[in-house]
Amino acid sequence: MIVLGIETTCDETAAAVVERYQDGRGRILSNIVLSQVNEHAAFGGVVPEIAARAHVEALDHIVEQAMVEAKRNYDGIDGIAAAAGPGLIGGVIVGLTTAKAIALVKEKPLIAVNHLEAHALTARLTDATPFPYCLFLASGGHTQVLAVRGVGDYVLLGTTLDDAIGEAFDKTAKLLGLGYPGGPQVEREATKGDPGRFQLPRPMSGRPDANFSLSGLKTALRIEAEKIAPLTDQDVADLCASFQQAIVNVILDRLRAGLRLFRTRYGAPAALVAAGGVAANQAVRKVLHRLAFEVGTVVIAPPPELCTDNGAMIAWAGAERLALGLADPLEVMPRARWPLEEVGGAAPRARVKSY
Ligand code: KG4
Ligand code: ZN
Repeated sequence: MIVLGIETTCDETAAAVVERYQDGRGRILSNIVLSQVNEHAAFGGVVPEIAARAHVEALDHIVEQAMVEAKRNYDGIDGIAAAAGPGLIGGVIVGLTTAKAIALVKEKPLIAVNHLEAHALTARLTDATPFPYCLFLASGGHTQVLAVRGVGDYVLLGTTLDDAIGEAFDKTAKLLGLGYPGGPQVEREATKGDPGRFQLPRPMSGRPDANFSLSGLKTALRIEAEKIAPLTDQDVADLCASFQQAIVNVILDRLRAGLRLFRTRYGAPAALVAAGGVAANQAVRKVLHRLAFEVGTVVIAPPPELCTDNGAMIAWAGAERLALGLADPLEVMPRARWPLEEVGGAAPRARVKSY
């Protein structure tokens, strides 16, 4: 089964063609990602109106490029998938409408994919990971610990009560005058700094639930920075290292609680899976390996280019759904908010006839 996937929920315009074999394994035929980073850099964050306009301008060309690189025409495509949310609504409308138009004209099934579900299922594209697994999803907009029990079957074990981890990285970078997106910049600075110089809090540590809270950490960092302003390069590096160390300790504690909840309810996880842009961070990856070793499981962390937003994950989630006979009517609506637990799978939104 071969599916075209379109991703436009944030600041990447992306399209990809992915093949799913009958045994559940996957292969990427093309994966084109156009980052809008330069358009948003001056603002220190994504500007929704700029993002939506940039998607409109780029998407047709990106889709065409994905098809050419995959060496496929639409006769060889079984379904058209697009991220239908959650995300910045202007961008979501652009991607979903484009997918609807292609599906209508080419008479192909449409799959309205939840962006978080796409992150959640990427480990099955890269590593054919069996269910159930424990997912740590950490991006600019989300920080969640989930039990992934099947396609469309997700149970939230923990989430952030305020900022997402990626957002905390981005805000730290902005505060310290580093570029956007912040995560990679903070990580780079942290390698030159002293993680023990500043005493930052580890919010929520020791609690039995698996929730996160990061706004206090962000505030504590700002206070430390203000105390020693103006900042030297070494100060910036030390602040980044101390911040990243605090984040890593928080992840260790919160995820340990999440894995405990998982084990109590569902038994041993087949894997600890990392997804979202933050999973590109080497220090974060290291702590995941430590945790997996502790609980006797393995870490599946897709390569960084598949952890950050991309079209292949949307195409793959579309293929996984289509393989179960799940597709969507052309009337399906874009959604700014769409919790993963509301996705569903067992009760299809619309069944397609023969796959
Ligand atoms: O998944 P993603 O590409 O987009 C969504 O937010 O959905 O994640 C982007 C987020 C940004 O907040 C970015 O700063 C963060 O992931 N990020 C990182 C790193 N690379 C990206 N955070 C920490 N360390 C990194 N190396
Ligand atoms: Zn994402």
